[in-house]
Amino acid sequence: MAKTISINPVTRIEGHARITIYTDDGGKVTNAEFHVNEFRGFEKFCEGRVYTEMPSITPRICGICPTSHALASVKACEDIQQVKIPPTGELLRRLIELGQLISSHALSFYHLSAPDMLLGFDSDPALRNIVGIAVKHPDIAVKGIRLRKFGQEISERLTGKKIHLLGIVAGGMAYALREDDRQALLAWIPEALESSKAALELFKKFREENKQFVDSFASYPTLYMGTVKPDGTHEVYDGIIRMVDENGKVLRDFKAQEYLDVIAERAQDFSYLKFPYYKPFGIDKGHYRVGPLARLNVASKMATPLAQKEFEAYKAITGGKPNHGTFYYHYARLIELLGAVEQVKAILDDPQVTSTNVQSLARRNKSEGIGSCEAPRGTLFHHYKVDEGGMLTKVNLLIATGQNNLGMNRSVLEVAKAYVNGKEVKEGALNRVEAAIRCYDPCLSCSTHAIGSMPMVMEVLGPDGSLLNSVRRDG
Ligand code: MG
Ligand code: NI
Repeated sequence: MAKTISINPVTRIEGHARITIYTDDGGKVTNAEFHVNEFRGFEKFCEGRVYTEMPSITPRICGICPTSHALASVKACEDIQQVKIPPTGELLRRLIELGQLISSHALSFYHLSAPDMLLGFDSDPALRNIVGIAVKHPDIAVKGIRLRKFGQEISERLTGKKIHLLGIVAGGMAYALREDDRQALLAWIPEALESSKAALELFKKFREENKQFVDSFASYPTLYMGTVKPDGTHEVYDGIIRMVDENGKVLRDFKAQEYLDVIAERAQDFSYLKFPYYKPFGIDKGHYRVGPLARLNVASKMATPLAQKEFEAYKAITGGKPNHGTFYYHYARLIELLGAVEQVKAILDDPQVTSTNVQSLARRNKSEGIGSCEAPRGTLFHHYKVDEGGMLTKVNLLIATGQNNLGMNRSVLEVAKAYVNGKEVKEGALNRVEAAIRCYDPCLSCSTHAIGSMPMVMEVLGPDGSLLNSVRRDG
Protein backbone atom coordinates (compact mmCIF):
# COMPACT_ATOMS: atom_id res chain seq x y z
CA MET A 1 0.00 0.00 0.00
CA ALA A 2 2.72 2.46 0.93
CA LYS A 3 3.97 2.39 -2.66
CA THR A 4 0.61 3.50 -3.99
CA ILE A 5 0.54 6.81 -2.17
CA SER A 6 0.84 9.44 -4.84
CA ILE A 7 1.38 12.38 -2.57
CA ASN A 8 4.91 13.65 -2.15
CA PRO A 9 6.46 17.10 -2.03
CA VAL A 10 7.22 16.99 -5.74
CA THR A 11 3.63 16.57 -6.83
CA ARG A 12 2.35 19.10 -4.34
CA ILE A 13 1.17 22.25 -5.97
CA GLU A 14 1.66 25.31 -3.84
CA GLY A 15 -1.55 26.55 -2.36
CA HIS A 16 -3.69 23.46 -2.82
CA ALA A 17 -5.69 21.51 -0.34
CA ARG A 18 -6.15 17.87 -1.20
CA ILE A 19 -8.22 15.00 0.09
CA THR A 20 -6.97 11.53 -0.72
CA ILE A 21 -9.20 8.52 -0.15
CA TYR A 22 -7.66 5.05 -0.25
CA THR A 23 -9.77 2.01 -1.11
CA ASP A 24 -9.17 -1.77 -1.13
CA ASP A 25 -10.04 -4.48 -3.69
CA GLY A 26 -13.64 -4.57 -2.51
CA GLY A 27 -13.98 -0.81 -2.92
CA LYS A 28 -14.00 -0.29 0.84
CA VAL A 29 -12.37 2.85 2.19
CA THR A 30 -9.23 1.99 4.14
CA ASN A 31 -7.88 5.46 4.84
CA ALA A 32 -8.41 9.12 4.02
CA GLU A 33 -6.24 12.16 4.44
CA PHE A 34 -6.73 15.89 4.24
CA HIS A 35 -3.56 17.62 3.12
CA VAL A 36 -2.80 21.29 3.24
CA ASN A 37 0.35 22.74 1.84
CA GLU A 38 1.45 25.08 4.51
CA PHE A 39 3.50 27.99 3.36
CA ARG A 40 5.49 28.93 6.43
CA GLY A 41 7.15 32.00 5.01
CA PHE A 42 4.95 34.50 6.80
CA GLU A 43 6.35 34.05 10.29
CA LYS A 44 9.92 34.29 8.98
CA PHE A 45 9.12 37.24 6.77
CA CYS A 46 8.00 39.29 9.78
CA GLU A 47 11.27 38.92 11.68
CA GLY A 48 13.27 42.13 11.73
CA ARG A 49 10.17 44.32 11.53
CA VAL A 50 8.96 46.56 14.34
CA TYR A 51 6.38 44.67 16.41
CA THR A 52 3.80 47.48 16.33
CA GLU A 53 3.50 47.02 12.57
CA MET A 54 2.09 43.52 13.06
CA PRO A 55 -1.57 44.47 13.64
CA SER A 56 -1.62 46.05 10.18
CA ILE A 57 0.56 43.42 8.44
CA THR A 58 -1.02 40.20 9.73
CA PRO A 59 -4.60 40.93 8.55
CA ARG A 60 -3.20 40.54 5.06
CA ILE A 61 -2.68 36.84 5.70
CA CYS A 62 -6.36 36.35 5.11
CA GLY A 63 -9.31 38.01 3.41
CA ILE A 64 -11.84 36.05 5.49
CA CYS A 65 -10.58 36.59 9.03
CA PRO A 66 -8.35 39.69 8.92
CA THR A 67 -9.91 41.08 12.12
CA SER A 68 -8.95 38.00 14.12
CA HIS A 69 -5.33 38.40 13.08
CA ALA A 70 -5.40 42.11 13.87
CA LEU A 71 -6.86 41.38 17.33
CA ALA A 72 -4.59 38.50 18.33
CA SER A 73 -1.69 40.57 17.03
CA VAL A 74 -2.60 43.76 18.83
CA LYS A 75 -3.13 41.83 22.07
CA ALA A 76 0.37 40.33 21.73
CA CYS A 77 1.70 43.89 21.24
CA GLU A 78 -0.19 45.08 24.32
CA ASP A 79 1.29 42.19 26.30
CA ILE A 80 4.74 43.48 25.26
CA GLN A 81 3.73 47.02 26.27
CA GLN A 82 1.87 45.94 29.43
CA VAL A 83 -0.80 48.49 28.52
CA LYS A 84 -4.51 48.52 29.33
CA ILE A 85 -6.80 49.87 26.60
CA PRO A 86 -9.67 52.34 27.26
CA PRO A 87 -13.21 50.87 27.57
CA THR A 88 -14.37 52.43 24.29
CA GLY A 89 -11.38 50.95 22.50
CA GLU A 90 -12.52 47.55 23.69
CA LEU A 91 -16.15 48.16 22.67
CA LEU A 92 -15.08 49.13 19.16
CA ARG A 93 -12.84 46.07 18.88
CA ARG A 94 -15.68 43.83 19.98
CA LEU A 95 -17.93 45.47 17.40
CA ILE A 96 -15.51 44.92 14.56
CA GLU A 97 -14.84 41.34 15.67
CA LEU A 98 -18.58 40.59 15.79
CA GLY A 99 -18.93 42.16 12.34
CA GLN A 100 -16.36 39.74 10.99
CA LEU A 101 -18.05 36.81 12.77
CA ILE A 102 -21.38 37.74 11.18
CA SER A 103 -19.85 38.11 7.74
CA SER A 104 -17.81 34.91 7.98
CA HIS A 105 -20.60 32.78 9.47
CA ALA A 106 -23.09 34.08 6.89
CA LEU A 107 -20.65 33.17 4.11
CA SER A 108 -20.07 29.71 5.58
CA PHE A 109 -23.75 28.91 5.95
CA TYR A 110 -25.55 30.66 3.11
CA HIS A 111 -22.89 30.46 0.40
CA LEU A 112 -21.01 27.27 1.20
CA SER A 113 -23.23 24.88 3.14
CA ALA A 114 -26.88 25.85 2.56
CA PRO A 115 -26.67 24.67 -1.09
CA ASP A 116 -26.26 21.06 0.15
CA MET A 117 -29.14 21.42 2.57
CA LEU A 118 -31.54 23.27 0.26
CA LEU A 119 -30.73 21.72 -3.10
CA GLY A 120 -29.49 18.30 -1.98
CA PHE A 121 -26.09 16.68 -1.64
CA ASP A 122 -26.66 14.81 -4.90
CA SER A 123 -27.98 17.75 -6.90
CA ASP A 124 -26.21 19.14 -9.97
CA PRO A 125 -22.79 20.40 -8.77
CA ALA A 126 -22.88 23.20 -11.33
CA LEU A 127 -25.86 24.70 -9.51
CA ARG A 128 -25.05 23.56 -5.98
CA ASN A 129 -23.91 27.02 -4.88
CA ILE A 130 -25.26 30.46 -4.05
CA VAL A 131 -26.24 30.96 -7.71
CA GLY A 132 -28.37 27.81 -7.57
CA ILE A 133 -29.97 29.08 -4.38
CA ALA A 134 -30.65 32.43 -6.04
CA VAL A 135 -32.56 30.59 -8.78
CA LYS A 136 -34.61 28.33 -6.50
CA HIS A 137 -34.83 30.35 -3.30
CA PRO A 138 -34.06 33.98 -4.21
CA ASP A 139 -35.22 35.33 -0.84
CA ILE A 140 -32.72 33.11 0.99
CA ALA A 141 -29.83 34.09 -1.29
CA VAL A 142 -30.58 37.76 -0.69
CA LYS A 143 -30.59 37.22 3.09
CA GLY A 144 -27.17 35.58 2.93
CA ILE A 145 -25.65 38.24 0.72
CA ARG A 146 -27.04 41.11 2.82
CA LEU A 147 -26.04 39.60 6.13
CA ARG A 148 -22.50 39.32 4.85
CA LYS A 149 -22.64 42.92 3.70
CA PHE A 150 -23.81 44.03 7.15
CA GLY A 151 -20.78 42.40 8.77
CA GLN A 152 -18.43 44.04 6.29
CA GLU A 153 -20.09 47.40 6.73
CA ILE A 154 -19.28 47.35 10.45
CA SER A 155 -15.60 47.03 9.59
CA GLU A 156 -15.88 49.64 6.87
CA ARG A 157 -17.51 52.22 9.13
CA LEU A 158 -14.99 51.63 11.91
CA THR A 159 -11.79 51.47 9.92
CA GLY A 160 -12.61 52.80 6.48
CA LYS A 161 -11.79 49.40 4.98
CA LYS A 162 -14.08 46.52 4.22
CA ILE A 163 -11.45 43.83 4.44
CA HIS A 164 -7.89 44.75 5.30
CA LEU A 165 -8.39 47.01 8.26
CA LEU A 166 -5.98 49.54 9.64
CA GLY A 167 -7.86 50.98 12.62
CA ILE A 168 -6.83 48.35 15.19
CA VAL A 169 -3.64 49.64 16.82
CA ALA A 170 -1.65 48.85 19.97
CA GLY A 171 -3.31 50.61 22.90
CA GLY A 172 -6.81 50.66 21.42
CA MET A 173 -8.29 51.97 18.17
CA ALA A 174 -7.09 54.63 15.75
CA TYR A 175 -10.53 56.11 15.07
CA ALA A 176 -13.65 56.78 17.13
CA LEU A 177 -17.14 55.79 15.95
CA ARG A 178 -19.13 58.72 14.58
CA GLU A 179 -22.77 59.18 15.54
CA ASP A 180 -24.00 58.94 11.93
CA ASP A 181 -22.14 55.65 11.51
CA ARG A 182 -23.62 54.33 14.75
CA GLN A 183 -27.13 55.20 13.49
CA ALA A 184 -26.48 53.64 10.09
CA LEU A 185 -25.37 50.36 11.69
CA LEU A 186 -28.29 50.31 14.12
CA ALA A 187 -30.66 50.58 11.15
CA TRP A 188 -29.45 47.15 9.99
CA ILE A 189 -30.33 45.32 13.21
CA PRO A 190 -33.97 44.29 12.61
CA GLU A 191 -33.12 42.81 9.21
CA ALA A 192 -29.96 41.10 10.49
CA LEU A 193 -31.90 39.53 13.38
CA GLU A 194 -34.57 38.24 10.99
CA SER A 195 -31.97 36.77 8.62
CA SER A 196 -30.08 35.05 11.44
CA LYS A 197 -33.30 33.54 12.78
CA ALA A 198 -34.25 32.42 9.28
CA ALA A 199 -30.90 30.64 8.89
CA LEU A 200 -31.46 28.83 12.18
CA GLU A 201 -34.94 27.78 11.10
CA LEU A 202 -33.53 26.45 7.83
CA PHE A 203 -30.98 24.36 9.68
CA LYS A 204 -33.49 23.06 12.21
CA LYS A 205 -35.88 22.06 9.43
CA PHE A 206 -33.08 20.21 7.61
CA ARG A 207 -32.16 18.44 10.84
CA GLU A 208 -35.76 17.49 11.52
CA GLU A 209 -36.03 15.91 8.06
CA ASN A 210 -32.56 14.30 8.06
CA LYS A 211 -32.04 13.42 11.68
CA GLN A 212 -30.16 10.20 11.13
CA PHE A 213 -27.77 11.85 8.66
CA VAL A 214 -27.11 14.89 10.86
CA ASP A 215 -26.63 12.89 14.07
CA SER A 216 -24.32 10.29 12.56
CA PHE A 217 -22.27 12.57 10.28
CA ALA A 218 -18.65 12.25 11.51
CA SER A 219 -19.80 11.99 15.12
CA TYR A 220 -17.00 11.03 17.49
CA PRO A 221 -15.80 12.28 20.88
CA THR A 222 -12.81 14.60 21.25
CA LEU A 223 -11.65 17.28 23.65
CA TYR A 224 -12.82 20.84 22.95
CA MET A 225 -11.22 24.24 23.42
CA GLY A 226 -12.63 27.76 23.36
CA THR A 227 -12.74 31.07 25.18
CA VAL A 228 -15.25 31.84 27.96
CA LYS A 229 -15.81 34.64 30.43
CA PRO A 230 -14.75 33.72 33.99
CA ASP A 231 -18.37 32.69 34.76
CA GLY A 232 -18.45 30.33 31.76
CA THR A 233 -20.37 32.60 29.36
CA HIS A 234 -19.57 32.21 25.63
CA GLU A 235 -16.96 34.78 24.63
CA VAL A 236 -14.96 35.67 21.53
CA TYR A 237 -12.82 38.71 22.31
CA ASP A 238 -11.15 38.14 25.66
CA GLY A 239 -11.46 35.78 28.58
CA ILE A 240 -10.04 32.52 29.79
CA ILE A 241 -9.33 29.66 27.42
CA ARG A 242 -11.01 26.45 28.49
CA MET A 243 -10.19 22.87 27.52
CA VAL A 244 -12.86 20.27 28.33
CA ASP A 245 -12.88 16.51 27.91
CA GLU A 246 -15.42 14.50 25.91
CA ASN A 247 -17.84 14.53 28.88
CA GLY A 248 -17.55 18.26 29.35
CA LYS A 249 -15.32 18.10 32.42
CA VAL A 250 -12.96 21.08 32.57
CA LEU A 251 -9.39 19.88 32.07
CA ARG A 252 -7.77 23.26 32.21
CA ASP A 253 -8.59 26.98 32.27
CA PHE A 254 -5.65 29.02 31.06
CA LYS A 255 -4.43 32.35 29.78
CA ALA A 256 -3.15 32.86 26.23
CA GLN A 257 0.33 33.32 27.74
CA GLU A 258 0.26 29.69 28.91
CA TYR A 259 -0.61 28.15 25.53
CA LEU A 260 2.72 26.36 25.15
CA ASP A 261 2.10 24.48 28.42
CA VAL A 262 -1.22 23.23 27.10
CA ILE A 263 -0.75 22.70 23.37
CA ALA A 264 1.99 20.88 21.51
CA GLU A 265 2.29 20.41 17.75
CA ARG A 266 3.51 17.50 15.72
CA ALA A 267 4.30 17.35 12.02
CA GLN A 268 3.11 14.41 9.90
CA ASP A 269 4.80 13.60 6.63
CA PHE A 270 1.68 13.80 4.46
CA SER A 271 0.76 17.39 5.34
CA TYR A 272 2.68 20.60 5.85
CA LEU A 273 -0.04 21.67 8.26
CA LYS A 274 0.99 20.59 11.76
CA PHE A 275 -1.18 18.61 14.16
CA PRO A 276 -1.67 20.41 17.47
CA TYR A 277 -2.86 18.35 20.47
CA TYR A 278 -3.49 18.71 24.22
CA LYS A 279 0.00 18.29 25.57
CA PRO A 280 -0.70 16.45 28.86
CA PHE A 281 -2.56 13.66 26.99
CA GLY A 282 -0.10 13.20 24.12
CA ILE A 283 -1.03 13.12 20.43
CA ASP A 284 -3.01 9.86 20.64
CA LYS A 285 -5.41 11.01 23.35
CA GLY A 286 -5.02 14.77 23.09
CA HIS A 287 -7.20 15.30 20.02
CA TYR A 288 -9.17 18.51 20.55
CA ARG A 289 -11.35 20.64 18.32
CA VAL A 290 -11.97 24.40 18.15
CA GLY A 291 -14.56 26.64 16.49
CA PRO A 292 -18.34 27.06 16.95
CA LEU A 293 -19.05 23.47 18.06
CA ALA A 294 -16.16 23.60 20.55
CA ARG A 295 -17.15 27.04 21.86
CA LEU A 296 -20.68 25.85 22.57
CA ASN A 297 -19.26 22.71 24.16
CA VAL A 298 -17.07 24.67 26.58
CA ALA A 299 -19.58 27.46 27.38
CA SER A 300 -22.25 27.12 30.04
CA LYS A 301 -24.42 29.91 28.60
CA MET A 302 -24.66 32.51 25.86
CA ALA A 303 -24.24 36.25 26.43
CA THR A 304 -27.60 37.37 24.97
CA PRO A 305 -31.27 36.32 25.42
CA LEU A 306 -32.23 35.08 21.94
CA ALA A 307 -29.00 33.10 21.54
CA GLN A 308 -29.44 31.71 25.05
CA LYS A 309 -32.91 30.41 24.16
CA GLU A 310 -31.51 28.65 21.10
CA PHE A 311 -28.55 27.37 23.12
CA GLU A 312 -30.91 25.72 25.63
CA ALA A 313 -32.79 23.90 22.87
CA TYR A 314 -29.46 22.89 21.31
CA LYS A 315 -28.01 21.64 24.60
CA ALA A 316 -31.16 19.62 25.28
CA ILE A 317 -30.24 17.38 22.31
CA THR A 318 -27.29 15.96 24.23
CA GLY A 319 -28.68 16.44 27.73
CA GLY A 320 -26.21 19.25 28.39
CA LYS A 321 -23.18 17.10 27.48
CA PRO A 322 -20.77 18.07 24.68
CA ASN A 323 -22.15 17.54 21.20
CA HIS A 324 -19.71 15.42 19.15
CA GLY A 325 -21.56 15.55 15.83
CA THR A 326 -19.48 17.35 13.24
CA PHE A 327 -22.57 18.47 11.32
CA TYR A 328 -23.62 20.35 14.47
CA TYR A 329 -20.86 22.85 13.73
CA HIS A 330 -23.48 24.49 11.49
CA TYR A 331 -26.08 24.65 14.24
CA ALA A 332 -23.55 26.08 16.71
CA ARG A 333 -22.36 28.58 14.10
CA LEU A 334 -25.89 29.87 13.54
CA ILE A 335 -26.53 30.29 17.28
CA GLU A 336 -23.33 32.34 17.40
CA LEU A 337 -24.49 34.33 14.38
CA LEU A 338 -27.75 35.28 16.11
CA GLY A 339 -25.92 36.10 19.35
CA ALA A 340 -23.42 38.27 17.45
CA VAL A 341 -26.20 40.41 15.97
CA GLU A 342 -27.72 40.86 19.43
CA GLN A 343 -24.33 41.83 20.84
CA VAL A 344 -23.71 44.35 18.06
CA LYS A 345 -26.99 46.02 18.99
CA ALA A 346 -26.12 46.07 22.69
CA ILE A 347 -22.74 47.68 21.98
CA LEU A 348 -24.20 50.26 19.60
CA ASP A 349 -26.77 51.15 22.28
CA ASP A 350 -24.01 51.74 24.85
CA PRO A 351 -23.51 55.54 25.16
CA GLN A 352 -19.76 54.97 25.67
CA VAL A 353 -19.39 53.62 22.14
CA THR A 354 -18.98 57.05 20.52
CA SER A 355 -16.48 58.38 23.07
CA THR A 356 -13.30 59.69 21.46
CA ASN A 357 -11.09 58.21 24.19
CA VAL A 358 -10.05 55.21 22.19
CA GLN A 359 -6.31 54.75 22.57
CA SER A 360 -3.69 54.47 25.33
CA LEU A 361 -0.05 55.04 24.47
CA ALA A 362 2.78 52.90 25.81
CA ARG A 363 6.20 51.56 24.87
CA ARG A 364 7.92 48.23 24.91
CA ASN A 365 8.08 46.97 28.48
CA LYS A 366 8.68 43.25 27.91
CA SER A 367 10.62 41.20 25.39
CA GLU A 368 7.80 38.78 24.67
CA GLY A 369 4.06 38.99 24.08
CA ILE A 370 1.23 36.56 23.42
CA GLY A 371 -2.30 37.39 22.31
CA SER A 372 -5.35 35.31 21.46
CA CYS A 373 -8.93 35.71 20.36
CA GLU A 374 -11.68 33.53 18.92
CA ALA A 375 -11.55 33.69 15.14
CA PRO A 376 -14.83 32.58 13.49
CA ARG A 377 -13.27 29.12 13.04
CA GLY A 378 -11.58 28.84 16.45
CA THR A 379 -8.93 30.07 18.84
CA LEU A 380 -6.07 32.03 17.28
CA PHE A 381 -2.73 32.76 18.97
CA HIS A 382 -0.03 35.25 18.03
CA HIS A 383 3.29 35.00 19.86
CA TYR A 384 6.10 37.53 19.38
CA LYS A 385 9.60 37.99 20.75
CA VAL A 386 11.33 41.35 20.35
CA ASP A 387 14.79 42.76 20.91
CA GLU A 388 15.56 45.95 22.88
CA GLY A 389 14.77 48.11 19.89
CA GLY A 390 11.36 46.48 19.42
CA MET A 391 12.41 44.46 16.35
CA LEU A 392 10.77 41.07 16.05
CA THR A 393 13.17 38.18 16.57
CA LYS A 394 10.56 35.39 16.59
CA VAL A 395 6.97 35.06 15.44
CA ASN A 396 4.68 32.09 15.97
CA LEU A 397 1.09 31.92 14.80
CA LEU A 398 -1.16 29.07 15.93
CA ILE A 399 -4.26 29.23 13.80
CA ALA A 400 -7.69 27.68 14.20
CA THR A 401 -7.64 25.62 11.03
CA GLY A 402 -4.37 24.05 12.14
CA GLN A 403 -5.95 23.11 15.45
CA ASN A 404 -8.81 21.45 13.60
CA ASN A 405 -6.42 19.50 11.40
CA LEU A 406 -6.81 16.28 13.39
CA GLY A 407 -10.57 16.82 13.42
CA MET A 408 -10.79 17.40 9.68
CA ASN A 409 -8.71 14.31 8.95
CA ARG A 410 -10.81 12.14 11.24
CA SER A 411 -14.06 13.56 9.85
CA VAL A 412 -13.01 12.97 6.26
CA LEU A 413 -12.22 9.36 7.12
CA GLU A 414 -15.53 8.80 8.95
CA VAL A 415 -17.60 10.26 6.13
CA ALA A 416 -15.61 8.51 3.39
CA LYS A 417 -16.15 5.18 5.17
CA ALA A 418 -19.87 5.84 5.42
CA TYR A 419 -20.52 7.08 1.89
CA VAL A 420 -17.68 6.31 -0.55
CA ASN A 421 -17.31 3.04 -2.41
CA GLY A 422 -14.27 2.61 -4.65
CA LYS A 423 -16.23 0.35 -7.03
CA GLU A 424 -18.60 3.11 -7.98
CA VAL A 425 -17.48 6.58 -7.01
CA LYS A 426 -20.39 9.00 -7.05
CA GLU A 427 -19.98 12.75 -7.12
CA GLY A 428 -22.61 13.12 -4.40
CA ALA A 429 -20.64 10.83 -2.10
CA LEU A 430 -17.49 12.89 -2.63
CA ASN A 431 -19.54 16.01 -1.98
CA ARG A 432 -20.44 14.57 1.44
CA VAL A 433 -16.75 14.08 2.18
CA GLU A 434 -16.10 17.68 1.27
CA ALA A 435 -19.07 18.68 3.41
CA ALA A 436 -17.18 17.23 6.38
CA ILE A 437 -14.45 19.79 5.71
CA ARG A 438 -17.03 22.55 5.20
CA CYS A 439 -18.38 21.93 8.73
CA TYR A 440 -15.10 23.29 10.07
CA ASP A 441 -15.22 26.20 7.62
CA PRO A 442 -11.43 26.03 7.33
CA CYS A 443 -9.59 29.11 6.38
CA LEU A 444 -7.04 27.67 4.05
CA SER A 445 -5.39 30.96 3.28
CA CYS A 446 -4.81 31.29 7.02
CA SER A 447 -3.55 27.80 7.57
CA THR A 448 -1.13 28.16 4.76
CA HIS A 449 -0.28 31.73 5.75
CA ALA A 450 -0.65 32.52 2.08
CA ILE A 451 -2.75 35.10 0.35
CA GLY A 452 -5.59 34.31 -2.01
CA SER A 453 -8.04 31.53 -2.72
CA MET A 454 -7.29 27.85 -2.33
CA PRO A 455 -8.57 25.36 -4.83
CA MET A 456 -9.30 21.94 -3.39
CA VAL A 457 -8.74 18.60 -5.09
CA MET A 458 -10.19 15.28 -3.98
CA GLU A 459 -8.94 11.95 -5.30
CA VAL A 460 -10.12 8.39 -4.77
CA LEU A 461 -7.35 5.83 -5.26
CA GLY A 462 -7.70 2.10 -5.85
CA PRO A 463 -5.57 -0.55 -4.09
CA ASP A 464 -2.86 -0.25 -6.75
CA GLY A 465 -2.75 3.54 -6.40
CA SER A 466 -4.65 4.14 -9.62
CA LEU A 467 -6.92 7.16 -9.72
CA LEU A 468 -10.57 6.06 -9.64
CA ASN A 469 -12.14 9.49 -9.57
CA SER A 470 -11.32 13.07 -8.75
CA VAL A 471 -13.18 16.28 -8.11
CA ARG A 472 -11.73 19.72 -8.24
CA ARG A 473 -13.24 22.87 -6.76
CA ASP A 474 -11.86 26.32 -7.18
CA GLY A 475 -11.50 28.04 -3.86
MG1 MG B 1 2.98 28.49 13.64
NI1 NI C 1 -8.33 33.29 7.78
